[in-house]
Amino acid sequence: MRVFHSVRNLHSWRTKQELLEGPIGFVPTMGALHDGHLSLMQRARKQCRTVVVSVFVNPLQFGETEDLGRYPRSFRADRRLCREAGVDLLFAPPPEEFYPANFQTTVTVNRLTRRWEGEARPTHFQGVTTVVTKLFGLVRPHLVYFGQKDYQQCLVVNQLIQDLNWDMRMIRCPTVRESDGLAVSSRNRFLSAHQRVQAGLLSKALRQGSDVIRTGIRNVRTIQSRMEKIFGSDPDVHLDYLAICDSKSLEPLTQVGGTVVILGAVRLGTIRLIDNLLVRCP
Ligand code: PAF
Repeated sequence: MRVFHSVRNLHSWRTKQELLEGPIGFVPTMGALHDGHLSLMQRARKQCRTVVVSVFVNPLQFGETEDLGRYPRSFRADRRLCREAGVDLLFAPPPEEFYPANFQTTVTVNRLTRRWEGEARPTHFQGVTTVVTKLFGLVRPHLVYFGQKDYQQCLVVNQLIQDLNWDMRMIRCPTVRESDGLAVSSRNRFLSAHQRVQAGLLSKALRQGSDVIRTGIRNVRTIQSRMEKIFGSDPDVHLDYLAICDSKSLEPLTQVGGTVVILGAVRLGTIRLIDNLLVRCP
């Protein structure tokens, strides 16, 4: 496996790849790699001749009061995991080369970013779409791999790909979960034992929503109140949102029908966790 830290090396490597045949698969990450990332790499390894992973903690997608400084960094372990997963190239640029002092471009997707994570973290998606635009431009992949855990991010990046007519396809991979249903996330390592139990309630609430829909109930307020009950009255759990939305537009619904997505976000102290479930109404 090759490891590049500089954009110049990546450029000349990519030009040489043009001469070889077969798709390039790309897994963009912020490092602190876990089983969720591993599942993306494994899927890419199965489908592509060349697999590229980036590890870059993107400062643009963190708000001023968010956890950029505390975000876990474990480059040596990440490099080992990538090598073991059969990754061909690991790209890990230093932030000052990726965003030089005179950097002044941003990329914005509009409607899809207004609600949910976009409302809770107003500059987040612009940071994501700017960094992936740069990374996609450098790596020029044919297939890009994203985890369904960040469902809104998947829709936003897919919209970017469509709107800019890029010749690439997004492969959305299923959320990887712990045995109690908690979605794996780099931030889970910060949970105390008590918070770890509370964190499990989010996926439980989503499953409850899905079960209620399957019993034939279609009124969103009724489904929501049944999901909210799962959290009880624990004052340490702050529910940011628990919403039932159209799975393509992410607009909130009042009645469910067709395929819906249940989106949830909770705060446990300073840790914020998100999760979602796609439900096809019978
Ligand atoms: O999902 C993530 O880890 C990040 O948002 C991404 C896509 C790597 C962009 O920094």
